[in-house]
Amino acid sequence: MSLITIDRNKCKKDGICVAECPFSLIALTGEEGFPEIRPAAARLCIQCGHCVAVCPHDALTLAGMDRNDFQPLGYGSPPTLKKVGQLLTSRRSIRTYEQQTIPRAHIEQILDLCRWAPSAKNEQPVHWLVFENPEKVRELAGLVVDYLRTGTAYPGIVAAWDQGKDMVLRSAPHLLVAHAHEKSLKPEIDCTLALNYFELAATSCDIGTCWAGILMSAVAAGHQPLLDALSLPEGHLLYGAMIFGYPRFPYFKIPPRKEARVIWRS
Ligand SMILES: Cc1cc2nc3c(=O)[nH]c(=O)nc-3n(C[C@H](O)[C@H](O)[C@H](O)COP(=O)(O)O)c2cc1C
Repeated sequence: MSLITIDRNKCKKDGICVAECPFSLIALTGEEGFPEIRPAAARLCIQCGHCVAVCPHDALTLAGMDRNDFQPLGYGSPPTLKKVGQLLTSRRSIRTYEQQTIPRAHIEQILDLCRWAPSAKNEQPVHWLVFENPEKVRELAGLVVDYLRTGTAYPGIVAAWDQGKDMVLRSAPHLLVAHAHEKSLKPEIDCTLALNYFELAATSCDIGTCWAGILMSAVAAGHQPLLDALSLPEGHLLYGAMIFGYPRFPYFKIPPRKEARVIWRS
């Protein structure tokens, strides 16, 4: 069976699917000039669904992808640059949280949107581990501090912990871990992008986030008690982690950032 099916009553042979296929797997070489799929497609198609999504005539079906799973875009114009700018500039790393937890359904809604983050070869390798219980997050922070005690890099963080202040996971109610199989094509980039989607989507619903860089370092250093506590599936590695929760304090200003450093070549 061919990977694509063309509805000849709808297809206008406009070549849009041909132009948009990332691996040039479609050509207008079929009977009567209709699009047909190249034999290599069975091996090379990454199931990105672009051929179906871009067809203005709804003329294409892709094997393995249900037509009904293609939601109509239907938003009209995308949000204005001003609106997107508000989102991008208002996202802050939040380090003080309400102790209130976020309902699972709400977290699920945000994670659901992260499925549309780009991924190398559309592999979509990202898996999530969500810590829902603040006590468990605290336990993980303690394990990171145990790791920090073995070195000299963060004496202030260890001292703060001993005085009851968590500067590792900031007493956040939740921790989000992005993990993927280590044999994925670009797992670190894919997980980072998905986490970035998460932090932006979270910002849009007044949920604060902050990258958990120190925990990530302790994991990268192979601190076994921490790895045991995370207990990721066989072959998976942690590629990013983020604390999140309701921010305790609102921000009133956008802190300045370095100018964009651009070399223009023409
Ligand atoms: C990879 C990465 C790791 C980070 N790790 C930590 C961390 O361990 N603790 C922390 O308080 N902030 C951490 N941050 C947050 C940065 O300090 C923050 O993004 C930066 O100061 C800019 O502030 P803003 O995010 O509010 O714009 C991390 C950010 C990134 C991208």
